[in-house]
Amino acid sequence: MARDGAVYACQSCGTVHSKWAGQCTGCNAWNTLVEEVQSRAPGSLSASKPSKARGLAFEGLESDTPAPPRFFTGVEEFDRVLGGGVVPGSAILVGGDPGVGKSTLLLQAAAGAAARGSKVAYISGEEAVEQIRSRAARMGLAQAPVKLAAETSLREILDGLKRDAFDLVIIDSIQTMWSDAHEAGPGSVTQVRACAQELVRLAKKKTIAVILVGHVTKDGQIAGPRVVEHLVDAVLSFEGERGYPFRILRGAKNRFGATDEIGVFEMGDAGLREVRNPSTLFLGEGGARAAGSVVFAGIEGSRPVLVEFQALVAPSAYGTPRRAVVGWDSGRLAMVLAVLESRCGLGLGNRDVYLNVAGGLRITEPAADLAAAAALASSALDEALPQDCVVFGEISLSGEVRPVSRAESRLKEAAKLGFTKALAPTGVGEAAGVKIAGAGRLADAVRRISEQSWT
Ligand code: TYD
Ligand code: MG
Repeated sequence: MARDGAVYACQSCGTVHSKWAGQCTGCNAWNTLVEEVQSRAPGSLSASKPSKARGLAFEGLESDTPAPPRFFTGVEEFDRVLGGGVVPGSAILVGGDPGVGKSTLLLQAAAGAAARGSKVAYISGEEAVEQIRSRAARMGLAQAPVKLAAETSLREILDGLKRDAFDLVIIDSIQTMWSDAHEAGPGSVTQVRACAQELVRLAKKKTIAVILVGHVTKDGQIAGPRVVEHLVDAVLSFEGERGYPFRILRGAKNRFGATDEIGVFEMGDAGLREVRNPSTLFLGEGGARAAGSVVFAGIEGSRPVLVEFQALVAPSAYGTPRRAVVGWDSGRLAMVLAVLESRCGLGLGNRDVYLNVAGGLRITEPAADLAAAAALASSALDEALPQDCVVFGEISLSGEVRPVSRAESRLKEAAKLGFTKALAPTGVGEAAGVKIAGAGRLADAVRRISEQSWT
């Protein structure tokens, strides 16, 4: 039995249980329930005195005071993912694995905003002021007028922020903050939620944009920032594959802009470098393209991006063939394999299949179907696609190649990088000098690859 007032909260999703259990019923994670003492029972509203209520003051939809304009951090990839700069008074959560570069990114954003005249505070609960200074010096940001503090007590932070008028406050990280109004330890769901709530309230009340850093871990010791997601206006995730220098900032929720926008960075010795033209990054090295390698003309957010799909189809050494995929959906791979098998007579059922998106990017667009299928067919047939050919198109279960959105932008980007052909759904018109090798059905695309017919 739980102690009086004690509950068990899942440290990953925040679901509260009255009894301890090995698995959370909310998110199915194991070993994430931790006992937390609730400091005070929530009072019943109906029992409180009605005389205290002021009554709702209704207002119209139109405002007579113009909203304060957005301000920029100067880290353009960051500003763009936010929907065109930072909205004053907004609360933003930046989540990501430890070590991916969240502190680095936000230090750059802080310095950029401060250099543009915003009043910026950077409060770290993880590093000492000296550590942050030396990092800033290495990144060449030491001159920026950012107010630094190393603090974990929410009371001290709120107090300090009330005394000065800030435009932007960065809290690195929300898991290290603690409020003395709660007994639970720092990093627990109770603390993370309470601290986030207070900081978001301050943001709205004083029109300060607040950026919360949240570590995403699975070990159950640190509360997943998921409990904070519904409190904030925007959630950005900072991602990167281990072993690659590329980092991708992705909008997961945004009350002030589109959520499908990505920002691309490269981690170097002097911090994060913005990558303005990601296609050059994800295309891999030049030189002859081998069988199984296909360039997909994709769209990420508002930008066209070319990425390389690499497939390897090999005889299986075991009874059950292997299916391994990196950077693409495994369900989608199974679908494409089934269509190749049943509509194109390309039997891959007893062969190992590996599919990899180069550069550590994760592709979710249905338009990538044809690129994946072409890479698989190219490897299975041992026929390379032409060096200067891009591929895009959605595949249906019936084996049809369906048209996709923004074909012209895809072709223009391809032309910019020297491509002159595209294997694409029939009906797509030539653009920017890129000729179309049309395919109405997946079988047509497979035939083009096996016969090397590109006109
Ligand atoms: P950091 O921003 O501290 O990550 P997070 O706040 O997400 O935990 O970045 C950590 C990694 O980045 C660390 O392994 C070192 C690397 N790094 C560089 O490669 N170059 C740099 O200029 C900086 C500042 C960090
Ligand atoms: Mg950090």
